[in-house]
Amino acid sequence: MNLLGVLGNPVSHSRSPEIHHYFARVANLDINYEKVLVADGKFKATVEHFLSRGAAGFNITVPHKFDAFQLAGELSEAAALSQAVNTIQILPDGLIKGHNTDGPGLIADLKNNLQWDICQQRVLILGAGGAVQGILPSLLLERPASVDIYNRTMAKAQQMVGRFNDDCLTASALEDLDQHYDLVISGTSAGLASDNFSLDIPTSVVGVNSCCYDMIYAAQQTPFLQWCEQNSAAQLSDGLGMLVEQAALAFEIWFGVDTATELVITKMRAGKSLRQ
Ligand code: ATR
Repeated sequence: MNLLGVLGNPVSHSRSPEIHHYFARVANLDINYEKVLVADGKFKATVEHFLSRGAAGFNITVPHKFDAFQLAGELSEAAALSQAVNTIQILPDGLIKGHNTDGPGLIADLKNNLQWDICQQRVLILGAGGAVQGILPSLLLERPASVDIYNRTMAKAQQMVGRFNDDCLTASALEDLDQHYDLVISGTSAGLASDNFSLDIPTSVVGVNSCCYDMIYAAQQTPFLQWCEQNSAAQLSDGLGMLVEQAALAFEIWFGVDTATELVITKMRAGKSLRQ
């Protein structure tokens, strides 16, 4: 039995156990993937306890991706660049290796599942928190024409642009948002509850050719995607595909098994259980 899990706070909402147990059944592997709540200030102690139980690896969710980055003895390129770790692999010599599959998971969803272009596209990102930091290196590797970051708190967008130091990256103020974008990605934590959501950007950022992606996944259409639809955006997607793709990449890191994601996404989209 391979012990795996997702560590974070909160974790009760996580769908990762379902997804990984499904992958394991298909791959004929025996796993026990748990949700592990991390009490305040107890990340390192929780990791040590989980490892002492023989864990083969684990995922990390909010707010501990930077803690996991600091804890790892070795880092993948995506994890080193983003300074965020969402997947821990225990190497044969016991060394803890940190990976980031969020960025590659987003790119896989955009390119393979949705068939959206990134290369040479004008991209707008909303938000400048941990979620955006995690995906930015992977997005930049796709060579978009430009990536503008708009954040409610401008200073955080500026800090992020400074950190990544890439010519195509700009921190945009509200008055700079005067064009249509090919791809608009929302990476804010706003909008899970619609009463908390207000988007003050010009509606002209989306047009009939824009593709709009919300990194949040919810059973109902997210408020950001509702806003995009009302403003004639051509194509819309929430973050369900990213969720499944980042899990598949983590599973591949742990077991060397390439998992098919399409059926999982279809079942989850239809509200069906992954248990059968
Ligand atoms: P996460 O790890 O989920 O990204 P985070 O690091 O706290 O969480 O970042 C949250 C992001 O969502 C930030 O960009 C935040 O904007 P601020 O930097 O101005 O706080 C953004 N955000 C959260 N609530 C928001 C709201 N109601 N409207 C607009 N942006 C919001």
